[in-house]
Amino acid sequence: MQHLRIKSLQEYQETYQKSIEQPEQFWDEVANNFVWRKPWDKTLEWDFAKPEVKWFKGGKLNITENCLDRHLEERADKTAIIFEPNNPNEAAQHITYKELHSRVCQFSNVLKANNVSKGDRVCIYMPMVPELAIATLACARIGAVHSVVFAGFSAKALASRINDSACKVLLTADGGFRGDKITPLKSIADEALQECPSIEKTIILNRTNLEVTLTENQVWWHEELEKVNDVFEAVEMDAEDMLFILYTSGSTGKPKGMVHTCGGYMVYTAYSFLNVFQYQENDVYWCTADIGWITGHSYIVYGPLLNGATTVLFEGVPSYPDFGRFWQVCEKHKVNQFYTAPTAIRALAKHPTSLVEKYDLSNLKTLGTVGEPINEEAWHWYDEHVGKMNCPIVDTWWQTETGGIMMSSLAGVTKDKPTFATLPLPGIQPILMGTEGIEIMEQVAKGRLAIKFPWPSIARTIYGDHERYKQVYFSTFKNMYFPGDGALRDEDGDYRITGRVDDVIIVSGHNLGTAPIENAINEHEQVVESAIVGFPHDIKGNALYAYVILYNDVLPSEFLKIEINQLISDKIGPIAKCDKIQFVSGLPKTRSGKIMRRILRKIAINELDNLGDVSTLLNPEVVEEIIKCRI
Ligand code: PRX
Repeated sequence: MQHLRIKSLQEYQETYQKSIEQPEQFWDEVANNFVWRKPWDKTLEWDFAKPEVKWFKGGKLNITENCLDRHLEERADKTAIIFEPNNPNEAAQHITYKELHSRVCQFSNVLKANNVSKGDRVCIYMPMVPELAIATLACARIGAVHSVVFAGFSAKALASRINDSACKVLLTADGGFRGDKITPLKSIADEALQECPSIEKTIILNRTNLEVTLTENQVWWHEELEKVNDVFEAVEMDAEDMLFILYTSGSTGKPKGMVHTCGGYMVYTAYSFLNVFQYQENDVYWCTADIGWITGHSYIVYGPLLNGATTVLFEGVPSYPDFGRFWQVCEKHKVNQFYTAPTAIRALAKHPTSLVEKYDLSNLKTLGTVGEPINEEAWHWYDEHVGKMNCPIVDTWWQTETGGIMMSSLAGVTKDKPTFATLPLPGIQPILMGTEGIEIMEQVAKGRLAIKFPWPSIARTIYGDHERYKQVYFSTFKNMYFPGDGALRDEDGDYRITGRVDDVIIVSGHNLGTAPIENAINEHEQVVESAIVGFPHDIKGNALYAYVILYNDVLPSEFLKIEINQLISDKIGPIAKCDKIQFVSGLPKTRSGKIMRRILRKIAINELDNLGDVSTLLNPEVVEEIIKCRI
């Protein structure tokens, strides 16, 4: 793969040009660097109107042969995964490619013995331990579709995800360590399972020695392992067979199960990993995300392993045992590429720089960020204190839906620029659209971002709801993919992502739709209606501000606020709790009954002289009252 690494600006420009002019030939050449059981008949078939995208049609493969088997010849004893536990006193584990291969094969046999076969959906609700990566790969090896649910989600959120894709088996753990706490995963899962009729078996890893009781159809992970061997021939998959489902919030209704397929996802995550991070053979790479999010799927597990890389898997949190943990781990494992979220950088920047300076970070070559726009201050802190002004920073813009990084500088190869994602990766064709739906041709401009040509790792559909997929991503602009973000382009052609243009709010790097949170609040028996908006927060990026209407006879109270946040925690998870809750007598609405969030957003950020004309509202009088009582 190393020969696919772009090494100069000129090479980037030439490669990019080729990828646009001859996309099929370009991706053919990249895809030729993988192990295919049978080559594809057709590189690309697409129609954004349907929408339908197929890459490497007719090709047969198994992604785990590319992540594992093919490395056994040259890298059998190379470390694939360095596991750094939550507790700094617990020994780190170095898992070689040979061992990882064996453990994945063994767990594939466990899945098989538990009646999982090709096409079945398996839900994985686990802490960040090696078994999580092993389980995901084992699903891929037997052709089952993994659906990893972030272990911070509540029982209700877990249940709705299990039910949406009718998962057959649930993989979980007794508990998960997070800082000085233990998340009782098994008991949360048990609560979810009360309403999940499709689950036939639950396999439970003992991670924390929490006391748990197994009921019918629940088995211990380690006991299952004892029953099987470690030989498992990977199941042959079609390039367009489903590899996984990963849920992401939408601006309305239930979460969207984004479907990624085997061939295109493999090719794009491997290629983007290599080029963005400029990974070289003996580097140690660390992405601090959780495998429960797309960043973990693509750039902890698949992208690195496809490249035969050494990837760090960290169980803990940046604040435990103190705010120097990230840097302690960088020093300990001699990390070369470090990839994290702006919200983490902002939180760490609040603490004395001695916590960074204490550690030897001289091995760092590349720094990266992902998940939300990074502000100038955080960028410079990262550059100065972590990178010592000596490491390029890749600001990677992408989404669960895109599968891999769409825009970013290539570390040290193309230029980075504070707060800019900069340029598209080869094969990615972004444009800016005006409000009238016409492409903005001027170089320096601001607009809504759209992508006009498919790339191999684009999500193929929303599980069970292709119509919604079409509606959300392909109906705003004709024949284009619309990611829901705004952007500006400067005189160098560099892009800066300006943020969401829909009702999704990014809190601490997590995508939250307003609708599910409002629905949760509205379930409180004393609540009539509610509206959520985001407001800037210096660590989380955005925090949530709720405007809540109570029934006439209900007295507003602090207690009610606590109950409302508890309800949100139960329905979605603690990440969706509101920082501010204001009780109001009404919400500003248009004559057709639509809540005017724009006005609520302005009030939340105290931008009161710029509310626009409120006289056309159904209830203009309510605006004055909301302003008066704003928090
Ligand atoms: O708004 C963009 C923001 O995160 C959204 C995607 O969220 P999610 O699917 O959870 O995936 C996050 C990890 C890839 C995008 O629509 N976003 C992501 N990265 C950036 C970003 N905004 C600005 N700059 C980024 N680098």
